[in-house]
Amino acid sequence: MTSRPWREWGAAAGERGTAVAEFRAELPASLGSARQARAAVREALAAWGLDYLAGDAELLASELVANAAEHGDGQPIGLALRRVPGPRGEQSLVCEVTDTSPAMPMPRDAEPDAERGRGLSIVSALARTSGVTPSLVGKTAWFTLATPDPSAEADAEAEVGLSSCALHGAKPQQEFR
Ligand SMILES: Nc1ncnc2c1ncn2[C@@H]1O[C@H](COP(=O)(O)OP(=O)(O)OP(=O)(O)O)[C@@H](O)[C@H]1O
Ligand SMILES: [Mg+2]
Repeated sequence: MTSRPWREWGAAAGERGTAVAEFRAELPASLGSARQARAAVREALAAWGLDYLAGDAELLASELVANAAEHGDGQPIGLALRRVPGPRGEQSLVCEVTDTSPAMPMPRDAEPDAERGRGLSIVSALARTSGVTPSLVGKTAWFTLATPDPSAEADAEAEVGLSSCALHGAKPQQEFR
């Protein structure tokens, strides 16, 4: 069985951009903390107009908080959510889950019949980037998600428009709304 690292292992917080909005909470290390994390993510994303990201964000925050509650040291868990603008108009969500256990997450390749061991693989598969940053008092597991890049979408639409014009031998027209 081989271990697969998260997509970005241990990037510094500063590399993840400057936040325009931030939400922080302290959650108990209990079974109910994952549910509280999902509610916090839902509320923050609704307030920021990023409901589009809520499904994946709730699932991934839930996995990291459940890990901190289950595999951490029983001390309170920190949850931080940040909205970060991207260079081309896209919006990113940064979610950080901090616990005070020195033990580090160990991503696994779960065997087909294994009942557990898929949480970090799910985070890695769905997040844009994800990782863990060790600290003197424990570590922060984190992931980012982003809305589609509007300029890339516009380029793609323009390309489709141009190629359909080429097919029909027509000049591109501006669309009025
Ligand atoms: N916050 C954490 N502190 C210490 N160890 C962790 C932490 N998060 C994960 N780990 C370690 O990494 C392993 C893999 O985590 P992962 O979430 O992939 O699987 P799991 O929690 O064991 O099972 P599942 O998430 O499928 O219920 C865990 O079994 C645990 O040993
Ligand atoms: Mg887990």
